[in-house]
Amino acid sequence: MTLQKKVIWITGASSGIGEALAYEFNKKGAHLILSARRIEELERVKENCSDSEESVKILPLDLAETHGMNDKVLEALAYFGHVDMLINNGGISQRSYAVDTQMSTVRRVMEVNFFGTVALTKALLPTFIEQKSGHVVVISSVMGKFGTKFRSTYAASKHALHGYFDSLRQEVYDHNIDVTLVCPGYIKTDVTINALTGSGEKYNKMSKGHKNAMPPDEFAKKLIPKLAARKEEIYLGGAELMGVYLKRFVPKLFNKILKRVSVT
Ligand SMILES: NC(=O)c1ccc[n+]([C@@H]2O[C@H](COP(=O)([O-])OP(=O)(O)OC[C@H]3O[C@@H](n4cnc5c(N)ncnc54)[C@H](OP(=O)(O)O)[C@@H]3O)[C@@H](O)[C@H]2O)c1
Repeated sequence: MTLQKKVIWITGASSGIGEALAYEFNKKGAHLILSARRIEELERVKENCSDSEESVKILPLDLAETHGMNDKVLEALAYFGHVDMLINNGGISQRSYAVDTQMSTVRRVMEVNFFGTVALTKALLPTFIEQKSGHVVVISSVMGKFGTKFRSTYAASKHALHGYFDSLRQEVYDHNIDVTLVCPGYIKTDVTINALTGSGEKYNKMSKGHKNAMPPDEFAKKLIPKLAARKEEIYLGGAELMGVYLKRFVPKLFNKILKRVSVT
């Protein structure tokens, strides 16, 4: 599949994985709509793209403001006339024991990672159905396949995405719409620095697992051919991906191991 002039809307495009995907799709000649809250960071990403005046548009949005998504879709459609792929990448993580995590933090993570992603997808869906094509991509996590200490709310938000988008895939199949859930392992971004503590403050620490993790540009290079092949579920990362298979085939043993593992 050629990506030349395909219109790709990426949320969370102001840093990390979303930024790296923007550069990689830009190299392949795609048209981009970049979304996140920080406009100056989106401008920076746009400036780093080639042919950016023509092919890259900025559409600021806050995933926690779910009521405004229909207007955002109208704005997005006005840029290039249609959208081919929505990459639901924007999200926040959490680092705190469940007992210390305030309900306001639980709700905040669910609001951004789950409700925001669902609201944006739902707002775009009638357009995909009408055009009889579309590709919904969700950047979940290996935490969408199993949970570990210190990440209860984050894991819950990613598990929720799997339930929702697995169901959606079956509903939209006859409309020629694909749904892909992507489960990254550790990718070297600021995700843990930007994670929320139990009280909702910024965690501000890079976890040990992230320091030597796969760089986001390598992740983007590996992901794009798999997206083009319209795979339903994709795992990308290092040894931590083993957890997906251990949880599936030897869950009792895996849970025993996880109880002993220290948290970062
Ligand atoms: N890095 C990893 O190891 C890893 C592993 C598995 C899954 N993931 C997932 O990958 C995705 C991207 O994370 P990352 O690793 O690239 O971390 P990141 O650098 O912290 O990027 C997070 C992105 O989400 C955006 N975002 C956060 N809150 C938002 C909100 N309320 N509304 C709109 N956008 C918001 C941020 O932009 P603004 O702050 O400008 O809004 C930023 O662009 C996340 O869904 C994360 O859960 C990451």
